[in-house]
Order: sequence, then C-alpha cells, then structure tokens
Amino acid sequence: MSSAAVDQQKTSAPILFPRGKISIEEIQRGICEAADLPLERAKTIPAQAYTSEEFYEWEVANLFRNDWLCVAHISQIPNAGDFLNVDLLDEPLVIIRGKDESVRVLSRVCPHRAMDIMPEGYGYEGHGSVAPNSDKPACGHTRFFLCPYHAWSFELDGQLKASPEMHEAAGFCRDEFSLRAFHSEVWQGFVFVNLDGNAPPLAPQLTEMEIDIAAYKMAGMQLVIAREWDCEFNWKVLVENFMESYHHLGIHHKTLQPMMPARDTWTEPEHRRYVRAHLPYKDSLREELRERERGGDWSSGFPTIASLNETQKTEWGLFLIHPNCLLATAPDRVIWYRLQPLGADRMKLLTTTLVAPEVATQADFEELRAREAQVLYAFHIEDMEVCTGVQRGLRSSSSREGRLSHLEMPIWLFHRYIAARIRGIWATEV
Ligand code: FES
Ligand SMILES: [Fe+2]
Repeated sequence: MSSAAVDQQKTSAPILFPRGKISIEEIQRGICEAADLPLERAKTIPAQAYTSEEFYEWEVANLFRNDWLCVAHISQIPNAGDFLNVDLLDEPLVIIRGKDESVRVLSRVCPHRAMDIMPEGYGYEGHGSVAPNSDKPACGHTRFFLCPYHAWSFELDGQLKASPEMHEAAGFCRDEFSLRAFHSEVWQGFVFVNLDGNAPPLAPQLTEMEIDIAAYKMAGMQLVIAREWDCEFNWKVLVENFMESYHHLGIHHKTLQPMMPARDTWTEPEHRRYVRAHLPYKDSLREELRERERGGDWSSGFPTIASLNETQKTEWGLFLIHPNCLLATAPDRVIWYRLQPLGADRMKLLTTTLVAPEVATQADFEELRAREAQVLYAFHIEDMEVCTGVQRGLRSSSSREGRLSHLEMPIWLFHRYIAARIRGIWATEV
C-alpha cells in the first residue's frame, strides 16, 4: 500500500470515543475542544459527557446548583395557599403562594428530623404537578404545613408555627426552626430557583430576551396542558433535541417538517444567557393562517395571540435559557419544558402548554385543550423515541465523534456555554 493510501486510511477512519470511564478533565477537555471550533467545523462532544455519573455530579455543582432553574409557572398556583411540589436535584421543594401573595420556594425537609413534610398519601391533595390519571395540571391548597411525623406545623412563609412537647428542650428557639427558603425569582411568570443562593439576579441577565418575548405576555398566561415523562436519557440529549430543528426532516417528517421545514430554520448569533432559534412557517401555511385569522376559523390550534407582530404570527421560536429552561413560542401558545435531572442517564420531564387567559375561558375550550394535548403528545413521543435511542448509542463502544450541520447551530452554542462554564466564564466572553 502506498504511503498516500495509508494516510487516506488514517484520515478517514472514524474517531471512536475511548471506551469506558475517562476522567472529568478529559471530558471537559473534549467539550472545550469541540466548542472552540468554528461552526463550520463543529463536532459532537465526548459520549461520556452524557453517561458519566462523575461528570453529572460536576454539572450538578457547577451548572445547576449555582444557577437559576425553572420550576413552575405562576398560573399553577393562582391563589394564596396554592402549592406545587417539585423534587429537584435531591431537594424536595414546595412552591407556595403565601398569604401575602408572594411566591416562595421552600424546602419540604422538616427541621426536626428531616422528614419530607408532604409525603404522598398524608392529606395533601394535588401533590405534584399533574392531577392523577389526567394530563390536567393540578396544584394543592393548604392553610399551613403539618409534618406528619411529630406534628410540627409551619406557616406558609416557612416559619415554625407550633411544635408540641418541646417545652423541656432547653434553649429551644422556634425562630431557628423554619423551613429553609431557597433563593427564588419570578421572571415573565416563570418561577426560578437558585439552590446555592449565590447566583446574581436573573432578570437583569435576560433584558434582551424579555424585549423579544414581551408580546406573548407570558406572565398572564395559563398553563392548561401538562404531562410528566420518565426519561432514560441525559438532560443534554433533550436540550439538544429541543433546540435543533434539523431533525424535522427525519423523525418529524410527518408532523413538524410540513409546517416548518428544517432548511428554513435559523439561529441568532450567540447571546450570553440564552440561545434563540427561529422556525418560520412554510409560505403556503402562512397564507392559510392569514386566511383563517381573517375568517376567525380555529378548527386547528388556539386563536392567534393578538399582540404578536407579523413575524411572530408565522413562526415558532425556540429558547434555551441556560442551563436547562426550554421554551417554544408559537403564534397561539407557549410550550415550556421543565427538566428535573436525576442522574447521568435519567431525568423527569414535564411538557406543558400555556395559552392566553381569554382562550382558557372560551366555550369550546375543553375540546380544544384535549385535541391540542394530543398534538403535543404526538410530536413529543417522536422526540422521546430518538432521545432514548441516542442514549443507547452513547453508551455503546461504537459511538464516535460526529459532525454537526449548520442547522445544529443551537447545539454548538450550547456546547460553547458548557465550555465557558468549565472555564468559569460565560460563552460570549470566550
Ligand atoms: S420530623 Fe417533622 S415533626 Fe418530627
Ligand atoms: Fe423534536
């Protein structure tokens, strides 16, 4: 064989990821190396970034606990005393609207002996974010919290209200035994929590995005569809799947591709805190929509949000607020995905739909809601199948360094964000 042929063989051989465990440093090096390439040379990051428990633990400490994670929408807890329970990164949380109407994120861990104060089956109806046997979102309602173990009770702001038979405990001071309050912020109607309490305020970091989404009036929207999923894949597999629309021409060729062809999708240049992609409707569909809007025909979909501009009325927008808040804006709704990572290859997911408040009160709403819940399910199940298949591939000895299409620019930006966090900076500072 000539030396040219040998060279040829060398360069065309697939670069298989090293099998088995590699160190966190090697994974980080692989991510930074991929992120530093220009988009036209973009490639995938090491498979172990999606399979290593050690790297997942690094992410928990360095991407999740020190940043803002989206846990609820305020329409899920509309009245004083309404609550929602979410388990996030080993923190049992209750999101509660207090008597003063403020929204707080409290720990459900009892300061007496660590019992979860609201275990299922102990009288707190509406435990969790979805009503049992239904895809309707649900919340609970209470006047105070009562730990079922030794009956300590707490006000809705977390203060200890009563603690029976503690009068002989020398020096016991009630004020020192409140439920822990986590740092939280409500931005555009979404409740974010920062578990370590040190993240700088979120809203000033998102002023640019706020202007872009103002017309959707998300703070006043109603969450009307919710479905929970147990996922056997890494959280980044879902983020990457949600944000790139290249796969419309594959797994969604019957559902989303006819509406929003992959080749027309495009991504904005790098933002510091978020990634934004645009998914314009096909020309023929734009015309059809204008026609329907003129005729007031909503036989498919919800009515268009009146305050949107012409572009917003004929495209979807995809947003990733780092690290893992996923939003899709459509002319008639906003889709929000809540991610609860559970390990390197497991997560819980809540898929939801929000609509303008006047839509939720119209006469045929129940019928619309049921139909649209089915639509959301139909395309999401396609994504679940590919995400599960990708994780299976990432565990295999055959997974190799892949290349990205220009249509996968959101993935490249996401990797640049992770690389920046590895370096202790933000993506736009690279
Ligand atoms: S653990 Fe809650 S009252 Fe004892
Ligand atoms: Fe998809």
